[in-house]
Amino acid sequence: MGLVAVTSPLPGDALDRLAREHRVRLREGPPLAGDELAAFAAGADALICLLADKVDQRFFAACPEVRVVAVYAVGVNNVDLAAAARAGVWVTNTPDVLTEATADLAMALLLAVTRRVVEGDRFVREGRFTGWRPDLLLGAGLAGKKLGIVGFGRIGQAVARRALAFGLAVLYHSRRRHPEGELAGVQFVPELEALLPQVDILSLHCPLTPETYHLLDRRRLSLLKRGAFLVNVARGEVVEEAALVELLAAGHLAGAGLDVYEHEPQVHPGLLPLANVVLLPHLGSATRETREAMASLVVDNVLAVLAGKPPLTPVVGPGAPGAP
Ligand code: DGY
Repeated sequence: MGLVAVTSPLPGDALDRLAREHRVRLREGPPLAGDELAAFAAGADALICLLADKVDQRFFAACPEVRVVAVYAVGVNNVDLAAAARAGVWVTNTPDVLTEATADLAMALLLAVTRRVVEGDRFVREGRFTGWRPDLLLGAGLAGKKLGIVGFGRIGQAVARRALAFGLAVLYHSRRRHPEGELAGVQFVPELEALLPQVDILSLHCPLTPETYHLLDRRRLSLLKRGAFLVNVARGEVVEEAALVELLAAGHLAGAGLDVYEHEPQVHPGLLPLANVVLLPHLGSATRETREAMASLVVDNVLAVLAGKPPLTPVVGPGAPGAP
């Protein structure tokens, strides 16, 4: 029987299943980093953590018994993957089970911001709806427009499938071509700079890595055409948020639907007064079914490693493929 440190309760009964085979040290509280995380996981054989817990080099040095860090997210930018690989520790994530929910939320933001759904809701609640008018809260239609997708893995491809059904043409940029996702109406654009001026809406689906930090910086955001919209359900740090605020406030961009923030959970104060921005609290995978499936997958990964087997969804580790 091993000891598993778990930094947060998880939806569903997966942790009960884990507790039938191993001792579980469970906490509830704000995210942990550095020495605090190491102290919490002292003596543990496995760590289950959230995306805001920072698992760094110090953690791996201080917790040599840990054999697997199972992240309750598909994005593993909170883990020093090189340090994990050096330490011979598995790092796992939760791909696939959250693809559809996250793609749905990207579409929800895309529709909310282009059709001014949240503005309309406020308008009614404020008692300002006095009757139908031909010019009331006009938004932007989707049919015949172009959606740019940055990052064309599982979630980017799931967004493309949805977008095609709304009559959008899809251009995507990714580190490599994904022929498997190139349905009719989907086109690969090798250069991000060539994609940006062509699209009416840009949706971000790349992982956060040193290469994608501020990928959408001031210069690249300015390449988007006047009146374009931005949707981000990936990671806030992919966008230079201060530049985004300026381009929205100046009217260069028509709107943004944001689920993630550069300094999460802090939101840039310049975003708050902007009516053309829809802000969500990182809800990409937040359906009950998905969050329970994610819990089940992290537990299955830990059970596998503690039984001496490889995990189901490795990111790095002994014998695992390289970092994403
Ligand atoms: C992830 O999995 O990386 C999301 O941001 C949360 O589900």
